[in-house]
Amino acid sequence: MQILWLDTVDSTNKYALAHLDTLADCAVIAAEEQTAGRGRLNRNWVSPRGENIYCSIVLKEQKSNPLLTVLAALAAAQTVRRRGLAARIKWPNDVLVNEKKICGVLAESNAKGLVIGIGVNINMSAGNLAALDRPATSLQAETGQIHDREKFLRELLENFFAFYEQARREGFAKLAEIWQNELDLTGKRVKIQTVQQEFYGTVIQIDKEGALLVATAQGVEKVLAGDVHVV
Ligand code: BTN
Repeated sequence: MQILWLDTVDSTNKYALAHLDTLADCAVIAAEEQTAGRGRLNRNWVSPRGENIYCSIVLKEQKSNPLLTVLAALAAAQTVRRRGLAARIKWPNDVLVNEKKICGVLAESNAKGLVIGIGVNINMSAGNLAALDRPATSLQAETGQIHDREKFLRELLENFFAFYEQARREGFAKLAEIWQNELDLTGKRVKIQTVQQEFYGTVIQIDKEGALLVATAQGVEKVLAGDVHVV
């Protein structure tokens, strides 16, 4: 597996997108720190030096597909669980431990391919965690131990590429099924926040494309990106 380790970068996603011409398919960019880490919904991703994993996977043959980001969340949850923690996935692709965020995924694409960015809080200090504007945790905060970041990254990538190969062999619809079971949102009353709007409804299911179908008083809404809160 080709991992390009950068010391410092504005954003591994931005770097990967800018270098898609020269990077191999399935290449991985990782960095010690990001000075302008990007999160979903135009948020920033706080990326202090040497504490966490900041990486981007290059998929040159793929177009934007919400189910591909799910692969990353499933792989990250699996890797966290291997360390004895009960990780759960929050739609669309956050990984939580004890209801606090430990991992986020941001897929970005251009005409040349797709990049899946993954941030996992590994040894994030209590001070840096407390300074975040929403509840977050790290492997160290949950286990009281320092974790080997490179080992975690390699395992995470192995898990990711195993799911990726499976999805390519068996089709992405199969993945939507696994995801549906993981998420356990069917029938739940939720509040949805997207960049444009906020509304309430009841989750019907996740469709084959990975979108959340929500029954509201106005009809069925198909949500591809946003935040979901069970109410
Ligand atoms: C989220 O908002 O939950 C998504 C966070 C994604 C962060 C990762 S860190 C590596 C990659 N590079 C970025 O700039 N963002 C992603």
